[in-house]
Amino acid sequence: MFRKLFAKKASAKVALSGGPTFEVARNETVLEAALKAGIAYPHDCTVGTCGSCKSRLLQGKVDAITPFGYTLSREELQAGYILACQAVPESDLLVDVPLGGAPIRKVAARIALQQDLTHDIRFVTWETDSPVDFRAGQYMNVSWPGGPGPRSYSFSTAPVEGGRQRLSAFIRRVPGGAFTEALFAGQLDDAAFTLEAPHGTFWLREGSGPIVLVGGGSGLSPLMSVLEDAVAKGTARDAILLFGGRTERDLYYLSEIAAIGERWQGRFEFRPVLSEAKAEGMRFGLVTEEIPGALTDLGNVAATQAYMCGPPGMIDAGLAALLAAGVPLASVHYDKFTDASTGKKQAG
Ligand SMILES: Cc1cc2nc3c(=O)[nH]c(=O)nc-3n(C[C@H](O)[C@H](O)[C@H](O)COP(=O)(O)OP(=O)(O)OC[C@H]3O[C@@H](n4cnc5c(N)ncnc54)[C@H](O)[C@@H]3O)c2cc1C
Ligand code: FES
Repeated sequence: MFRKLFAKKASAKVALSGGPTFEVARNETVLEAALKAGIAYPHDCTVGTCGSCKSRLLQGKVDAITPFGYTLSREELQAGYILACQAVPESDLLVDVPLGGAPIRKVAARIALQQDLTHDIRFVTWETDSPVDFRAGQYMNVSWPGGPGPRSYSFSTAPVEGGRQRLSAFIRRVPGGAFTEALFAGQLDDAAFTLEAPHGTFWLREGSGPIVLVGGGSGLSPLMSVLEDAVAKGTARDAILLFGGRTERDLYYLSEIAAIGERWQGRFEFRPVLSEAKAEGMRFGLVTEEIPGALTDLGNVAATQAYMCGPPGMIDAGLAALLAAGVPLASVHYDKFTDASTGKKQAG
């Protein structure tokens, strides 16, 4: 009945909470209409797999072109989250979405610097043909001639006024991986890359409550970007950075993290967690098992924001631990580092 009523309407009105209102034509998605209206609505894949366009439906009803449940968690679905690229309005809507990223664009780039950080993680810097504007924590899509398709890499440095012409990321070698195997073998040293950026909404939200950051492997990349940016802006929020590795040889950037700690104005603590070998001064187990203790130590769980980056299994376990401890879902932000073996990638 509701659907029939709307079918007679030519369009629906979508209001973004605290932002603009725009019209969505019949059978158009929320994302398509927002982009047409010139709104920098966060997105990437446009086919319902990456999660970049995740938004919260506050009022109204939508139809899903492909089920949101392929990409969103049960908790997110229950809380009213939708994928704007798959959502066709069935009524006027009120939608909450994190706006504030710079417009997405493509630049030409070449690798300017490479440096091994661990046995399987490399610091890579591209020099671009023009400056790229981004927010700390966002990522870029990297394409190269002959490659099977773009790969996503999160910026490891804080942005600068006017944009950066040198873009860096921590990149983990994935055995059998099309991009990383070629990169680590030196086959892309002189390649003509195309970088598309900025993508994602993994930036530090406003607030005065504590922050817990959780990373594994190359997942430290956007966390360093966020931390560097926050320390430069003089944040005084209490923070604990949990970082997981198998053994001590998986730890890196320790002096850079220590330097952040020295400049941080609130409490700052770095807790490395090893899952396969015990070491003096380090916690032993899975990094996500340290989340409840970190939250207790920070206090004020209800006001805590969480930022997680790394392999999908770590994010799923981390999300469960955070919600079980009482961190509100809307305060949990993550980028899942999925690859071709996962078949889809997700951000949140
Ligand atoms: C938002 C986001 C941000 C990211 N940021 C970073 C970052 O900062 N640093 C980082 O290191 N990574 C990051 N990643 C992951 C990165 O984008 C790549 O997925 C990763 O580097 C692997 O790329 P690849 O081309 O080497 O491997 P792929 O070619 O994607 O292959 C990955 C694995 O899948 C296997 N495989 C290939 N095809 C199939 C198939 N059809 N079925 C099953 N298995 C298959 C391969 O053998 C290999 O083991 C991010 C991912 C996302 C989504
Ligand atoms: S842009 Fe909507 S899920 Fe990727």
